[in-house]
Amino acid sequence: MTTPSSKPTPRRGIADTLAQVAGGAVEQRLLKEIRAGPVPRHLAIIMDGNRRYAESHGLEREQGHLRGKDKLEELLDWCLEVGLRTLTVYALSTENFHRERAEVEELMRLFEENFRRIGDDPRVHQHQIRVRALGNRALLPPPVVRAIEYAEMRTQGYDQYRYNIALAYGGREDILQAIRTIATEVKEGKLKPEEIDDRVVSSRLYTQDLPDPDLIFRTSGEERISNFLLWQSAYAELYFCDVLWPGLRKLDFLRAIHAYQLRRRRYGT
Ligand code: FPP
Repeated sequence: MTTPSSKPTPRRGIADTLAQVAGGAVEQRLLKEIRAGPVPRHLAIIMDGNRRYAESHGLEREQGHLRGKDKLEELLDWCLEVGLRTLTVYALSTENFHRERAEVEELMRLFEENFRRIGDDPRVHQHQIRVRALGNRALLPPPVVRAIEYAEMRTQGYDQYRYNIALAYGGREDILQAIRTIATEVKEGKLKPEEIDDRVVSSRLYTQDLPDPDLIFRTSGEERISNFLLWQSAYAELYFCDVLWPGLRKLDFLRAIHAYQLRRRRYGT
């Protein structure tokens, strides 16, 4: 019978070190290949699996979301490293408001704290990253809205990179609010019905001036779009990965970008 011990055995230690060295070498090779090709102009991510991660690691649910937040901080570095200019992450859907009240409150605290942190993040100022929240702010508590406004105000003059956080976001709601805006403009005589085209609709969505996503990446093994960027994803490549969001490794991220580069985009031609 073996006695449980928190210390790794020497054999395990060597195996881990070898695995790390091999993983590092694969990462370096992938990074080199990725840098030689086109990276997505706009990457959109459905960060899924925080609660399952917490459950499978014997953690409280809140810890799962906290680790998810830490992963998002790491992801920002990876995006900068490969030269990805526009990133949009799905942090809270309109449907997520139907979760238990305590969980919604935990998430709101996390968002409030993190929008302020993002507004002060030296990386954001060094790389001139413009931060925006996409979604229906009327659904958010005032402290979260104020934190969003703080991050947006501090980065409004930047244009090198775009970092968008979709919260209280739903793709159908996005399209509906664009339809309402357009209908009002037509009613007021500012727009003629025959002038309504792709460009007009795109510019009334929450994403406004952002390019459509080239790649939508979802973690946790679920293969659905779940009401994310419905109009904008018309020609996006989709990539699904089994890893739960807080467990995402840089290697998984690089593989997603590399897989995108290997696909030939056809736009229906
Ligand atoms: C999906 O996992 C994740 C969420 C609904 C919340 C996303 C929030 C973060 C990653 C925290 C940080 C974000 C910011 C912007 C500070 P899930 O809760 O649906 O987990 P499950 O799929 O295992 O149920």
